[in-house]
Amino acid sequence: MTAVDQLGRSLGDLRLSVTDRCNMRCTYCMPREIFGRDYQFLSRQQMLSYEEITRVVKAFVQLGTRKVRITGGEPLLRRQLPQLVKMLSVIPGLEDLTLTTNGALLQQYAQALADAGLQRLTVSLDAVDTEVFAAMTDSDIAVSQVMEGIQAAEAAGLGPIKINVVVKKNVNDHLVVDLARQFHGTGHIIRFIEYMDVGATNGWQLVDVVPVAILVDRINAVMPLEPLEPNYQGEVARRWRYVDGGGEVGFIASVSQPFCTDCTRARVSADGKVYTCLFSSQGHDLRHLLRSGSSPHDLTQVIDSIWHSRKDRYSELRAAQAPSLSKVEMSYIGG
Ligand code: GTP
Ligand code: 5AD
Ligand code: SF4
Ligand code: SF4
Repeated sequence: MTAVDQLGRSLGDLRLSVTDRCNMRCTYCMPREIFGRDYQFLSRQQMLSYEEITRVVKAFVQLGTRKVRITGGEPLLRRQLPQLVKMLSVIPGLEDLTLTTNGALLQQYAQALADAGLQRLTVSLDAVDTEVFAAMTDSDIAVSQVMEGIQAAEAAGLGPIKINVVVKKNVNDHLVVDLARQFHGTGHIIRFIEYMDVGATNGWQLVDVVPVAILVDRINAVMPLEPLEPNYQGEVARRWRYVDGGGEVGFIASVSQPFCTDCTRARVSADGKVYTCLFSSQGHDLRHLLRSGSSPHDLTQVIDSIWHSRKDRYSELRAAQAPSLSKVEMSYIGG
């Protein structure tokens, strides 16, 4: 059974948030003024258990999902995450199981994640400059801790590792070439992401976005690049490679060149709501079904009908839309 939405897009991948908490406070994602001491995060009871998550993922796989990305918040803050990886990695039909992390706890967990069946992972790292990193993440976690995490992941066989850099004008865009150079020749794939207007707390303005075309030019001027074909239809990142054989670089033009036409991604929050777009203001609750004795068939039917009514293409409509104040936060539904 393959679920298809109103615009003919299949339900190819699932981004699964396992916690809304994070040990960093990136200013563009969880500004400390809002996500401070008094912020009400989800309670343990509100969050789906690993057993409930596994039932949800099985239902998605029934509907054609082949790729699952575990996200957060920071997913490694969820207790015994390798246990969940183990439960998901044995689901028949699930071909690609991966994770996006800020890397702070990776040194501790890399081997256990690999042993549990994780295939690869992505680390978010916006700067290697100590001061810029501290300013952007608004935390005491050192860049060296993240770098050690990346090394541990490589040693555990989780490569090629993708490094995600959110680029914000006049904050870290002057460091883009340095970052590219740092990962040139390492086998890791660095990807530069246009800063997006997700959520309602980061004070996003279009002037803070540096279009990827400019970033490509800047890197190309120093380390010549040539374009690569996409790995698969609907790939979010445009792929390039260094002409000198130094490896691959990616650019994610979520604002300047939206990719909604091919968007096959669903999101499930840690408390079990399905979001059909990163910019949705409302989710569809699955938790009550999971906790009221519904069968696997019921669950699959409900998800199918949610996907069937999907029409989202927020990024393509962005320019024409009035700003909304009710969008969900990225730390809640995952990147
Ligand atoms: P691979 O499977 O490794 O190719 O991963 P991916 O391309 O799905 O990359 P990843 O999950 O790391 O996403 C990178 C970034 O792209 C995210 O952190 C978001 O900033 C952005 N992004 C991913 N999916 C979407 C989406 O559906 N809509 C928008 N607007 N941005 C997205
Ligand atoms: N714009 C673009 N990317 C973002 N991320 C978080 N907030 C934003 C935003 N406003 C990215 C993180 C991480 C992933 C989970 O989402 O850097 O790579
Ligand atoms: Fe945490 Fe990632 Fe958000 Fe930064 S971007 S606050 S590391 S979830
Ligand atoms: Fe998909 Fe929504 Fe992002 Fe468009 S804006 S690519 S529909 S998640």
